[in-house]
Amino acid sequence: MEINAVEFDKIAREVFAPIYPVIAEQIIARTGIKSGCCLDIGCGGGYLGLALARITELEMILFDESPEMLDLARGYIHDSGLEARVKTLQGDVHAIPLADGSVNLTISRGSLFFWEDQARAFREIYRVLAPGGMTCIGGGFGNKELLKQVEKEMLLRDPDWNNLRQQRVGKSKAADYKAKLEQAGINDFEINQDETGLWIMIRRSA
Ligand SMILES: C[S@@+](CC[C@H](N)C(=O)[O-])C[C@H]1O[C@@H](n2cnc3c(N)ncnc32)[C@H](O)[C@@H]1O
Repeated sequence: MEINAVEFDKIAREVFAPIYPVIAEQIIARTGIKSGCCLDIGCGGGYLGLALARITELEMILFDESPEMLDLARGYIHDSGLEARVKTLQGDVHAIPLADGSVNLTISRGSLFFWEDQARAFREIYRVLAPGGMTCIGGGFGNKELLKQVEKEMLLRDPDWNNLRQQRVGKSKAADYKAKLEQAGINDFEINQDETGLWIMIRRSA
């Protein structure tokens, strides 16, 4: 399903903006990875990758299949002054155009729900992960207060928003993602779920 880049960007800027710095801090707390190469898969306008680049020394690759999203991301990279450390890359998560073992940290928020073959995507993500590398893939809104704030605003725009959220990160979804990870031959993973979202952490042993 194609996402309208301009419409999504408006929501990201007007509603989701406060969640990205909070999620970036949570990613550091969970992974401890602050340097090396980071791949933000399905980056959209690059909001999360940029929030993480601002507080780390990571070399960031903002990766998306949509040229329109990457055009927006390039504008935000320019505004951030982080051009030396943040690049864009166009491609599909099912065939990531990067070498084996070249990424230390993979992040991805709000994108996996759109991947046609999640097991294949997880295999690709694992392939590009360096020994000692980790992932934070999923969807969420940071904390309860931020979720409440986003929910209030999103329900005004789309009364079906909560149903859609449940379909993507609701209680029954963890078992589905576990099955897909196992299908991909990945054993060292955790699925962390609470009312604010669901995150898949994969570790590649050193
Ligand atoms: C809902 S947006 C999320 C954007 C951003 N990560 C955020 O949290 O605001 C989902 C993004 O995933 C991208 N996407 C969907 N399927 C993809 C695929 N197969 N490969 C790469 N990117 C994909 C879309 O183009 C879109 O930019």
